[in-house]
Amino acid sequence: MRIGVLGTGNMADALATHWARAGHEVTIGGRDAHKAERLATRIGDGAKPAGLRTAAEFGQVVLAALPFGAGAGVARELHTALDGKVLLDCSNPVGPGFRLLTERGPSAAQQLAAAAPGAHVVKAFNLCHEDVWRMRPPVFDGRPLAVPVCGDDQAALTRVHELVRDVGCEPVAGGGLERAGLLEATAALFIGLWVGEGADAQAIAPPLAYAAGPRHEGTSLHHRGEPR
Ligand SMILES: NC(=O)c1ccc[n+]([C@@H]2O[C@H](COP(=O)([O-])OP(=O)(O)OC[C@H]3O[C@@H](n4cnc5c(N)ncnc54)[C@H](OP(=O)(O)O)[C@@H]3O)[C@@H](O)[C@H]2O)c1
Repeated sequence: MRIGVLGTGNMADALATHWARAGHEVTIGGRDAHKAERLATRIGDGAKPAGLRTAAEFGQVVLAALPFGAGAGVARELHTALDGKVLLDCSNPVGPGFRLLTERGPSAAQQLAAAAPGAHVVKAFNLCHEDVWRMRPPVFDGRPLAVPVCGDDQAALTRVHELVRDVGCEPVAGGGLERAGLLEATAALFIGLWVGEGADAQAIAPPLAYAAGPRHEGTSLHHRGEPR
């Protein structure tokens, strides 16, 4: 597929490299032409440099690899170019003290959707550090990393699930875009645990078989109802 990338930083580099290797056509859009040129050259595999608008026009999927504070403004400016496109949001609205900057308001993903109302916004790739996304592939203890994906449009979700697999990960349906804020809050929690406490965030959830408690091991939560 054709992928436009907004931003020339770490996430643009990590994710677009996988997608170019997987055979997708990638255009790297930057506000700084030299940075776009440098990143496109580094990625190789036919990746091309461009301005932000050209990258948005080019992509069937457009990755917003921008700071939370810049995403909505850029999307608003480019909204006509984003009409009908999949707009992939990996941002983390996390501030000092691991605070969620969107508390009591719309999530970062919802703010992108409001800024570019013709785009199909999908949230994914926000839960791990760039260096995890650079792994080829991100597999731990023999198990591919699971990537929750939130969005409302089925065709857009299908495309993003493919892009998750191209990174070497397993997509997990995370629900509609109204749940994207939960992914953002989870990132704030995880970053606080990792950086603030030195705690292993992976250890905070039991295996699926124990999700409803040990007594119900092996019983699907689908049949048992939700944990209380
Ligand atoms: N890094 C991670 O480990 C990680 C992991 C998960 C999620 N995320 C999220 O992914 C997003 C990108 O992170 P990153 O680490 O890739 O950031 P980054 O390395 O700082 O790159 C940000 C990019 O956005 C551009 N930019 C900033 N303000 C802009 C504006 N107003 N208009 C146009 N372009 C603008 C920057 O351009 P200039 O270079 O010209 O300033 C740069 O190309 C963030 O929302 C972050 O929360 C990051």
